[in-house]
Amino acid sequence: MDIQVVEDVSLNLEAIPQHIAVIMDGNGRWAKKRNQPRVFGHKQGVLALKRTLIACKDLGIKYLSVYAFSTENWSRPEKEVGFLMTLFKSMLKKEVNDLDSNGVKIKFCGDLQGLDKGLRDQIDKAEEKTKNNSVLQLNVMLNYGARNEILRACQSVVHDVQSGQIADISKIDDDLFSSYLDTAGCPEPELLIRTSNESRISNYLLWQLSYSELFFIDCLWPDFDKKQLISVLKDYQKRNRRFGGLHA
Ligand code: FPP
Repeated sequence: MDIQVVEDVSLNLEAIPQHIAVIMDGNGRWAKKRNQPRVFGHKQGVLALKRTLIACKDLGIKYLSVYAFSTENWSRPEKEVGFLMTLFKSMLKKEVNDLDSNGVKIKFCGDLQGLDKGLRDQIDKAEEKTKNNSVLQLNVMLNYGARNEILRACQSVVHDVQSGQIADISKIDDDLFSSYLDTAGCPEPELLIRTSNESRISNYLLWQLSYSELFFIDCLWPDFDKKQLISVLKDYQKRNRRFGGLHA
C-alpha cells in the first residue's frame, strides 16, 4: 500500500478523493486581525489558492472547485467588488501560462454573462488555452449561486424539451440533469472544506454536494496550506460514507 508519512501521521494515497470543493472564507477577518484593509486579505487569499492547487496536484486530486464570488457578493461595498474583479482579471492574465504548463485545465462556473466584458474575455482565453489539459481541473465559481445554476439548468432542459431534443421527459434523471449544470463532466465532490469556522453551505453546489462529507475548519483562508489539507484528508479517510445505505 502506498503510504505517505506526514509528520507523525500517515495518509493513504490510495484513498485520495477525486474532487474537493472549497469555500475560501475569512480573508477579511485575517486582514482585520493584522490591522490591514480587507483587500490585503484577498491578496493573501490568492497565495493560499496557489498553495492549495500545488498541494492538490502533488496528492493526485483531479478536480478542485473554489467559490470565488457569489451572486450575493455584489452587495459588498463597491470598492471591494471592484478590487476583487480586477484581482480575478489580473490573476488570470498573470497565471494562465503557469497553470497551462502545469497541466491545469481552468473552468469558470456561474452566471458569466453578468461579468464585465474585459473579465469575460480573459476567462474565454484562459479556458481555451487550457482546455486540453488533464492533470487537474480548477473550477472557479464566479458570480455563482447554486440556485441560479439549478434554475439556468432547468431553463435549458425546458428549452430542449420544447425543441424536441429531449423527446421523453421520463428520461430526465440525475445524470441527464447533471449534464446541464455548470460542473457537467466533473464527478461530484467527495468533500467540501469551508474555512473560518462558519458552518454553512451558502448557496454553493447544492445539487453536487448532496452526499459530500462536510468539513468546517477553524482556519482563515489565507492561512490554509498543505498541512491543513492533509489533516482534513486524514479525517475524511476515517469517515464511513453510506450514501443512504447501512454501516459497512
Ligand atoms: C472570502 O473572504 C473570500 C472571498 C469573498 C473570495 C475571494 C477569494 C480570493 C481573493 C481568493 C483567490 C481566488 C481567486 C479565484 C483568485 P471574506 O471576504 O468573506 O472574509 P470574511 O468572511 O472574513 O469577511
